[in-house]
Amino acid sequence: MEIIALPAEMQRWSEAARGRGQTIAFVPTMGFLHEGHLTLMREGRRRASLLVSSLFVNPTQFGPNEDFSRYPRNFERDCAMMSEVPVDVLFAPEPDVMYPPGSQTWVDVSEVTKGLCGAHRAGHFRGVTTIVAKLFNIVNPHVALFGEKDYQQLRAIERMVQDLNFPIVIVPVPIVREPDGLAMSSRNAYLSAGQRKNALALSGALRAAGDAFQAGARQPRELVEAARRWLAKTPEIEVEYVEAVDAKTLDAVDRIERPVVVAIAARLGPTRLIDNMVFAPE
Ligand code: PAJ
Repeated sequence: MEIIALPAEMQRWSEAARGRGQTIAFVPTMGFLHEGHLTLMREGRRRASLLVSSLFVNPTQFGPNEDFSRYPRNFERDCAMMSEVPVDVLFAPEPDVMYPPGSQTWVDVSEVTKGLCGAHRAGHFRGVTTIVAKLFNIVNPHVALFGEKDYQQLRAIERMVQDLNFPIVIVPVPIVREPDGLAMSSRNAYLSAGQRKNALALSGALRAAGDAFQAGARQPRELVEAARRWLAKTPEIEVEYVEAVDAKTLDAVDRIERPVVVAIAARLGPTRLIDNMVFAPE
């Protein structure tokens, strides 16, 4: 695996690969890899002749009171895991290369980022769409893969690609879970043994919402209430939001006539976890 740290060098590599008729799949990450990331990478391998991944803990998507400085990092381990896939090129820039002094341009997807996490993490999605736009211009891939784990992020990136005419196919990849149901996340590394057990309440709550849906509930409120009742059984969990919204637009709906996503954000101690499930009527 080749490791590239400079944008201009990455751009030259992609241009040369394209010139040889190769296709490029791209998986951006913030590292501390797990099976979720690797699933995106394996899917990328299948969809193009070359696979590029990036590792960059993007400071602009963390709020001032968030976990940027203590975000888990392990470059050696991540490189070993990427080599196994195998990834052809890892783009791993330094922060001052991505945001040199004087940087002042932002990419802001306005509507789809308003609710859910956007309502609780001011500036977060602006940071995400800005760095992803920059990475797209640097890596110049044909396809890019994103996990449904970060559901609102995926929708925001799809919107950005459409609105700004990026010639890139966005491939969504389903959530990869631990055997007991917990959605894999780099942030799970923060959890104590007790918190790890309590974290199961998120996927449990989504299953409870799914049971309500299976039983015929067609009002979003009924799914939300079923999920909240489940979460309430674990008092150590501090719920940030539980919502059931249109799975495409993320707008509120009165009745479930098209697919809805039930999305949860909750804290276990200082650790913020998210999870979601999509429910589609016949
Ligand atoms: P990160 O949290 O490292 O996630 C990188 C990619 O892996 C994202 O597309 C995310 O949705 C996906 N992913 C994470 N956990 C997953 C799981 N359990 N199942 C399936 N996919 C999963 O998301 C980011 O980084 C950043 O915001 C980034 C897009 C790199 C921009 O900085």
